[in-house]
Amino acid sequence: MNFKEKLSQWQVQVNQSLKKCLPSGDVHPERLHQAIRYSLDAGGKRLRPILVLAAHELFPNEQNPMPAALAVECIHTYSLIHDDLPAMDNSDLRRGLSTCHKAFDEATAILAGDALQPIAFELLARGYRDDPLLGMDLVSILAQTAGSQKLVGGQMQDLISEGKQPDAENLYYIHENKTAAMIRASLEMGFRIGGMGEDDDRMSKIQEAGTALGHAFQAVDDLLDVTSSSEELGKDAHHDSEQGKVTWVTLKGEHAARELAADYTERARHALEALGGDLSFLLDLTSYMLNRKN
Ligand code: IPE
Ligand code: IPE
Ligand code: MG
Ligand code: MG
Ligand code: MG
Repeated sequence: MNFKEKLSQWQVQVNQSLKKCLPSGDVHPERLHQAIRYSLDAGGKRLRPILVLAAHELFPNEQNPMPAALAVECIHTYSLIHDDLPAMDNSDLRRGLSTCHKAFDEATAILAGDALQPIAFELLARGYRDDPLLGMDLVSILAQTAGSQKLVGGQMQDLISEGKQPDAENLYYIHENKTAAMIRASLEMGFRIGGMGEDDDRMSKIQEAGTALGHAFQAVDDLLDVTSSSEELGKDAHHDSEQGKVTWVTLKGEHAARELAADYTERARHALEALGGDLSFLLDLTSYMLNRKN
């Protein structure tokens, strides 16, 4: 199977599992579950769950990585729903559709995001009850990553920095936490499910790869905001400058931001190559993430 086929096969599997494992829109209170389903079913690239699956596949065992993949997607989708709220980025378009608060209302969007978080941890607790130590480790990785010193902390700093003088150290902190942490954790969780311990050298290599990949990813996201259209992106384009966001583009310009994204991708590939195993999918994925159009 070539890269594109495998990517789309995993996307389909993730989508089917999300359908099966999460409450459908006819569960009471219907409005809440419809809002959750609306944002999840709108699609998205499913990159984080696919990173869980791909990392697990590198050194696989009998354990099923899908519950962890779904948990990561639930946290990610919640973060997008809240990121789009008027109090945050105030966006109208997401995954090719009206944002959750536009299609429903603000309170419902806040609650849909709230509800997706415990669903993520329930998926982990239920999915790994045959190996409670693994389950607790996965809960711990995801809780830390989603928490106040990573994802939420990065989002806080992103908002505080709006309209401020760009500064590389601050920007690094924002990208590291709002974006890279979840990308790194996805790879890390895949390895942990494969039975790899914290002290395994391969664990630090995959963390290094995840960090670099995450920084490349956000640099590309910031570039696409400037170079692409809302239609192509499926989300509001030219929005960062409207919101006064600090990005690599505002700090160093488009050309340097592009170089930075390529450089981080190269670092990620280098760290991956030190792992051994059949790396073809993961290496192709790094190129896909760098050259993506949305
Ligand atoms: C968007 O993430 C948010 C960022 C961290 C830049 P994605 O570009 O992965 O969004 P979806 O999941 O494909 O919609
Ligand atoms: C959002 O970064 C990162 C998270 C949702 C945690 P952005 O605000 O740049 O993401 P988009 O561009 O709205 O997808
Ligand atoms: Mg944002
Ligand atoms: Mg945003
Ligand atoms: Mg963005």
